Amino acid sequence: MIKKGESEMKRIALVTSGGDAPGMNAAIRAVTRLAHIKGIDVIGFERGWDGIITNTYRVLTPRSVGGIIQQGGTILYTSRSQQFRKTKGQQAAAKMLDKNKIDGLVVVGGNGSFSAAYEFSKSTNVLIVGVPATIDNDVYGTDETIGFDTAVNTALTEIDKIRDTAISHERIFIAEVMGRTRGFLATTIGLTAGAELILVPEVKTDEKKIAKRLAENTRKGKKSGIIVAAEGIGDTRKLAADIEKQTGSEVRLSILGYAQRGGSPTARSRLLANLFADKAVNLLIKERGNVIVGLQNGKITSTSLETSCKTEKKLDLDLLKLANALAT
Ligand code: F6P
Repeated sequence: MIKKGESEMKRIALVTSGGDAPGMNAAIRAVTRLAHIKGIDVIGFERGWDGIITNTYRVLTPRSVGGIIQQGGTILYTSRSQQFRKTKGQQAAAKMLDKNKIDGLVVVGGNGSFSAAYEFSKSTNVLIVGVPATIDNDVYGTDETIGFDTAVNTALTEIDKIRDTAISHERIFIAEVMGRTRGFLATTIGLTAGAELILVPEVKTDEKKIAKRLAENTRKGKKSGIIVAAEGIGDTRKLAADIEKQTGSEVRLSILGYAQRGGSPTARSRLLANLFADKAVNLLIKERGNVIVGLQNGKITSTSLETSCKTEKKLDLDLLKLANALAT
């Protein structure tokens, strides 16, 4: 075990980047405190990569990160930096990290942030460790990301309420959830909400099949229903109108939207934040970088940044089959 003062790591920086996710603050707190125990100073750049380019940061201390573990969002703010996509932006960021004598950089974010980090790793000697935090859960190299569980629970709370009104009015509801181009959120939300149907971008939406299934349900005496649709499937407003036309039943659309990104992180999201932060700090102490940390088969692991960025995470289609079987 490396003791305080033994590692070459003296000063690390932290950024939160891309879409915010509940539990990012818990990760900031944990990285800061665990690094301090090892005698490493921590600064937090604000607004993601933009903060590095403009040298906008604050010193993070064990005290300054107090009282944030339960807060959604990120105290460091976040952005999807356009400047950092350009070589000039990356060069400016590399200079700023040098100027601030940064040895390691912890990037708390999702796929977009890691792709940018991977590009950046080619033009800086600073060791980069990615901590996966996105409600989309679409990062290769981890079974679950910080914030995913919270977003699932937030959506469930809403869908359970929608279910009440759906039953009362004997209506079909489409609940559109986030997830960018992927169906991880929709699948887990649909399965745990007891949705009659789950629509994900990974499986082609077949309106005729949907109408047939709903007609079968009506015959069985099931006159209301919830369809959980991932935003990535396309125009859900049109889909609602089409299904209404085909089935003759009332169909309403409810877009759950940005509420899914906020709120106090669940225990699960906080736990992942703590475990990922622990791994990230330990990797940096051992001077290992250009990796992301993750949870794989119950173990905290690391995966090269390059592999994570170049590999698509697979959606478990068996979960859709299970949901289908349960929706009888
Ligand atoms: O990546 C998280 C996410 O919330 C996606 O689910 C969604 O598609 C996207 O961000 C929205 O991004 P923005 O905040 O840029 O509108």
